Amino acid sequence: MKTVIEPYRSRVVEPMRMTTREEREGFIRAAGYNPFLLRAEQVLIDLVTDSGVSALSTRQWSAMHGSDESFTGSRSFYRFSEAVRALFGHAFVIPAHQGRAAEHLLARAVIRPNDVIFANTHFATTRENFEAAGAEVRDLPIPEALDRTSPHPFKGNIDLDSLEAGLAQAGRRARMVVLTVTDNSRGGQPVSMANVRGAREICRRHGVPLWLDAARFAENCYLVKVREAEFAARTPREIAGELFALTDGVFMSLKKDALGNTGGLITLDDEVWAEAIRVQLLASEGIPTAGGLAGRDLEALAAALDEMLDEDYLTYRVASTRRLGEQIQAAGVPVVTPFGAHAVYVDGRAFCPHLPDERLPAWSLSVALYVHSGVRTWETGNVMQGRLDPASGAWRWPDLDLMRLAIPRRVYSQSHLDYAAEALVELFERRSSVRGLRFVYRPATLAQFVATFEPA
Ligand code: F0G
Repeated sequence: MKTVIEPYRSRVVEPMRMTTREEREGFIRAAGYNPFLLRAEQVLIDLVTDSGVSALSTRQWSAMHGSDESFTGSRSFYRFSEAVRALFGHAFVIPAHQGRAAEHLLARAVIRPNDVIFANTHFATTRENFEAAGAEVRDLPIPEALDRTSPHPFKGNIDLDSLEAGLAQAGRRARMVVLTVTDNSRGGQPVSMANVRGAREICRRHGVPLWLDAARFAENCYLVKVREAEFAARTPREIAGELFALTDGVFMSLKKDALGNTGGLITLDDEVWAEAIRVQLLASEGIPTAGGLAGRDLEALAAALDEMLDEDYLTYRVASTRRLGEQIQAAGVPVVTPFGAHAVYVDGRAFCPHLPDERLPAWSLSVALYVHSGVRTWETGNVMQGRLDPASGAWRWPDLDLMRLAIPRRVYSQSHLDYAAEALVELFERRSSVRGLRFVYRPATLAQFVATFEPA
């Protein structure tokens, strides 16, 4: 059959509040034309993120009811750490309250001023944390990753020639190499196993550890299965085992693929690094058997480590994202292709050619989509990444100005996503009506969370 159905059904429902266009115009005006400043109840379908918003399974809820909330050494922690060790295979398991907390621990414990860290692309919080520790971070995406419509199946790959040259040039300053799987900042694109093997070999030769930012590794492993011939007959879990065996350590947010409402993780083999991270953990995050998480969080995460790699679930997830992408692509909406798993990305500049970069095309589009339909999305473009060059006083805009429709896991039905697609297509048909915005309040950093705007 060609219909791919959700491999789960609802037992508890959460009512959604319908709003009128007039109400939404008032809400967004009061929020300074910043969708992040809306109250969630003013949003009909929330595609702002796939992070921390998963629906929990009956198994997760039942595990949570049996949690152990002891201050230290809780049964829930041991269940979690055994599940992590069985999957990731590294010796030490360090929990944290979310992904950026894990990055912060790593940055404080093992990264020193003048270190150089290479990645396919650092996620924004990773970059902030590593730079705050005084490191220089360098992104080395393959050239195809910068081409929105290149059909390359693994646009998350790191450029191996640049990595080789970069490590040779950095010498002893090179602290680590990070592969973000999937590459959220450039369209949720996967990294191939061949690329991980290549990076591993180069890292070995230069004596530099290879790490993963594994927030969406299960989706990456499924895309490896369907796009990399060698892995067609393997299960996502087997592919994950092989992926982790190529690494020296992993840090990750457990709020994405790991189906947690909160949670983060560092797992590694280096005992000296593990000890340094634990010392930092005690100062800023919690105790080593909790990392700022409650026993029930650890239980929900331990249960999810199986569910997230379930092949029926991943098949559905990728098919449902592709369906959304293909619906809008068929109507001419300019999208990043091939589609990944967690989100569909729309090119703001191509959608709104009447808006110059200063009028913030992808941001203006996300505001227009909210007013039109109640669907909330996330701009990863001019507002999030634009920088004012202090020397020239001119803006430097990122290579892509994107609007992301991120899909929470197990939350929305196909009809919800059909509604979002229809709304975007209707807006595309009258795209010249999308009004540009300009900054009213622009903070020095993290503009997307606090900036306010007005129609230009
Ligand atoms: N790494 C990646 C690749 C991420 O996408 C995120 C978060 C983090 C690290 C940080 O993890 O949120 O648990 O502290 N991404 C969210 C998103 C915010 O919407 O893409 P966190």
